[in-house]
Amino acid sequence: MALQWSHTIEGVDWEELSQLYRVAPLGYKKPEDLKIVFSNSRFTCFVSEAGRLVGVGRVLSDGLDCAYLCDVAVLPSHQGRGIGKAILRDLIERCRGHRKIILYAVPGKEPFYRKFGFRRMTTAMAIFESEARARELGVIDDT
Ligand SMILES: CC(C)(COP(=O)(O)OP(=O)(O)OC[C@H]1O[C@@H](n2cnc3c(N)ncnc32)[C@H](O)[C@@H]1OP(=O)(O)O)[C@@H](O)C(=O)NCCC(=O)NCCS
Repeated sequence: MALQWSHTIEGVDWEELSQLYRVAPLGYKKPEDLKIVFSNSRFTCFVSEAGRLVGVGRVLSDGLDCAYLCDVAVLPSHQGRGIGKAILRDLIERCRGHRKIILYAVPGKEPFYRKFGFRRMTTAMAIFESEARARELGVIDDT
C-alpha cells in the first residue's frame, strides 16, 4: 500500500494524532494541545496509508540558527518498515541551512538518531514544567 505524505496541518484529525502518540507509545498528548503545537511548528510531516495516519514528526525553527526536532512517532503496526527514518530524512532535509538541529531522545532511542549524525551534547540543559516527570522519563542527568 502506498504512503501519502503531507506537510500541512490541513485536514489533520487531532484525535487520531493523539491516539497515534498514545499507542506509539510516546505518552498522552491532548488533541487540543497537539493542534497548538503543530500549528506553531515550522515544519510538520504526516504520513498516511489508505487514509490512516501512520507516522508523524515536527520541527520548531528560527529559520537560520537553531531547529528543534520533536514528536517523531510511528504506529506500532508500521514500525520497522523505514517510515521513521523517512520522516527524519524529510525533516532534516527541510532544516537544511540551520546551524544546528537539536533534539532529546526517549532513553534508548539515541542510536536511531545517531545514524543521522546527531551527536550527544555535553552541556544541553532544560527547564521542565514537570521536573518529576522528566526524571521519571530518565532525561535528567544530575551529574
Ligand atoms: C523510534 C521510531 C519513530 C522509529 O520508527 P520506525 O519506523 O520503527 O523506524 P525505521 O523502520 O525507519 O527504522 C529505524 C532504524 O533505527 C533502528 N532503531 C529503531 N529503534 C531503535 C532503537 N531503540 N535503538 C537502536 N536502533 C533503533 C532500526 O533498527 C532501523 O535501523 P536500520 O534500518 O539501520 O536497521 C518508532 O519506533 C516509534 O514511533 N517509537 C515510539 C515513539 C518514540 O520513541 N519516538 C521517538 C521519540 S525520541
